[in-house]
Amino acid sequence: MARIIAVAVPKGGTGKTTTTLNLGAALAELGQRVLLVDFDPQGNLTQALGLRPADLEHTSYTAIKYFLTCFEPQLDLAVRRTEMGVDLVPTSARLNLANDELAVAIQREFVLQKLLAPLAPRYDIILIDTLPYLGVLVVNALVAAQEVLIPLQAEYLATESVTLMMDQVQLMRRSGLNAGLDVLGILLTMVDQRTVIHREAVEYARRVFGSQVPVFATQVKRSVRFPESQASHQSILAYDPEGEGARAYRALAEEVLRGSS
Ligand SMILES: Nc1ncnc2c1ncn2[C@@H]1O[C@H](COP(=O)(O)OP(=O)(O)OP(=O)(O)O)[C@@H](O)[C@H]1O
Ligand SMILES: [Mg+2]
Repeated sequence: MARIIAVAVPKGGTGKTTTTLNLGAALAELGQRVLLVDFDPQGNLTQALGLRPADLEHTSYTAIKYFLTCFEPQLDLAVRRTEMGVDLVPTSARLNLANDELAVAIQREFVLQKLLAPLAPRYDIILIDTLPYLGVLVVNALVAAQEVLIPLQAEYLATESVTLMMDQVQLMRRSGLNAGLDVLGILLTMVDQRTVIHREAVEYARRVFGSQVPVFATQVKRSVRFPESQASHQSILAYDPEGEGARAYRALAEEVLRGSS
């Protein structure tokens, strides 16, 4: 059965999609069978993998829609092979509609969990890319997952969102929605060691959060190679194989595998 990891934090632009994609590619390089699930209506993961969300017949949204009408999980229709060695469940902007549709649905928090259940035996790791907003879609990801990876942009103002995310994990546990949910780790992203403010943010994250949850030893530095690789629909491993970014996500993949039970 796959380990299911939600990549989540309620702040925009912290590296959730970049981490989902490149961690997925690095895990696949290590021989893991990886499924990436785009669960963000922005569809950035879908686009970074070279698909146009508007053209897609089957997406995470259409699977939700079908499930809410007949309660049958049919997410496999949406699964695609990609050149990055990972499989993808793409999405489209219509996933925005699921916010309202799920709000009135029976068992609204459990839809993604039910959709992923038939796919889980086929993969070693499933990574769910989420949106920067704590609503019913993120709650679905946190019910489906066993672990949460929290990307923290190395900036002072970003730490607040990590605190919010950890509170949400506590809520998931206490409410019984997912009593066993774990924080896999906080990942420092977009680190720029040259500036004092960044160094302070890294130090703060390790000291304050590190006493409560794991913080990955791996840090991802800021590099223009990341947006470049996404624009050319490649992972950082393929785009700049010997670069620091590729090294970081390979090291992160090793850490994630070491953290497996
Ligand atoms: N280490 C990095 N160095 C430089 N740029 C980066 C790095 N990681 C990500 N980026 C860029 O920063 C932008 C935001 O990253 P990304 O899309 O991964 O964030 P996100 O958390 O998924 O955003 P959202 O909350 O909108 O979904 C993207 O343009 C991405 O290419
Ligand atoms: Mg994103």
